[in-house]
Amino acid sequence: MTKRTLFTPYTLGSLSLSNRVVLAPLTRNRAGQGLVPSEFAATYYSQRASAGLLISEATQISRQGQGYQDTPGIYTPAQIDGWHAVTDAVHAKGGKIFLQLWHVGRVSHVDLQENGAAPVSPSALRAATKVFVNNRFEDVSEPRALDISELPGVVSDFRQAAANAIAAGFDGVEIHGANGYLLDQFLKDNANLRTDAYGGSIENRARLLLEVTEAVVSEIGADRTGVRLSPVSPANGVSSSDPQAQFDYVVEQLDALGVVYLHVVEGATGGPRDVAPFDFAALRQRFKNTYIANNGYDLDLATSRLAEDQADLIAFGRPFIGNPDLVERLKRGAPLSAFNPATLYGGGAAGYIDYPTLAESSVSAS
Ligand SMILES: Cc1cc2nc3c(=O)[nH]c(=O)nc-3n(C[C@H](O)[C@H](O)[C@H](O)COP(=O)(O)O)c2cc1C
Repeated sequence: MTKRTLFTPYTLGSLSLSNRVVLAPLTRNRAGQGLVPSEFAATYYSQRASAGLLISEATQISRQGQGYQDTPGIYTPAQIDGWHAVTDAVHAKGGKIFLQLWHVGRVSHVDLQENGAAPVSPSALRAATKVFVNNRFEDVSEPRALDISELPGVVSDFRQAAANAIAAGFDGVEIHGANGYLLDQFLKDNANLRTDAYGGSIENRARLLLEVTEAVVSEIGADRTGVRLSPVSPANGVSSSDPQAQFDYVVEQLDALGVVYLHVVEGATGGPRDVAPFDFAALRQRFKNTYIANNGYDLDLATSRLAEDQADLIAFGRPFIGNPDLVERLKRGAPLSAFNPATLYGGGAAGYIDYPTLAESSVSAS
């Protein structure tokens, strides 16, 4: 049997990936007029097209789903066209790309909502977190609880956004069920105090995510639908009293729906992997298709997790920001460049598409 390494090809549903490195979704707040991906986005993604799979930055499915300034959407014809330029550029380099579908729920600000409306949430509980809006980080606004009669509308916004993503040329979509955004707010019981069919029991808290997934699968097919989860991440102020039981159940149900991949943030997003006890192997055992592992991976950890068969693909987030040619650098064991934190969120080309490849930096050094 061929040894599984980061650099061996992989078959994801009907797609042939050239390696097992995945670009994790990274919000960069550079969308232009109409929240259309910026003119630089096609360059940014195509620079990283040597990854086996790219996952786009989180992209709101509706105006209500936006929580930060200048994040792109996928609900207008202009946004679909803007994304088409990105998918064309990635495909021209032989890359594959999924779009991450996002509804932020309560992690938003009235200045981003239609007519200054309150952001929506499972329950009227404000998160202890900030959003980037009006060119600075501000506290989120007080949310209002979604009425049960509004939930089919949220599901249909996800369904339509998935159809729009395919129209924009994406190879598939990733449903953002992680990091304390709307679907994770329903899953985690410190954010969900509902007493209807969408709150309380493990099954009820999972209902919205599963309805969304079912709708997306019926719209574009299970082999083009992935789901991202972060069972123990405290991102954006969420926590669960029973994460193992909750996520064991969710993953069994996602397996039954046949989604093509499960993308798991292992630990606190961008923080410690061991933030809370959790058996991630139990999720992998419950899921037949592809398991993408993320959070704090480097070459050594990725290599050993693949060799131990604890993951099929490894997603890298921060390392990709300053290293467009991350795959090549990992292959050679070359040093990685740091990124500039000042240009992470917002701005233009600087700190976005001007990080050199290894070859380019050796030319400029000589
Ligand atoms: C600048 C930045 C933007 C991010 N944006 C997103 C996002 O849009 N969607 C998402 O699911 N995670 C997002 N994340 C989390 C990353 O996808 C990833 O889970 C995290 O950085 C941990 O992986 P790493 O250790 O390889 O960086 C973001 C992280 C960073 C640093």
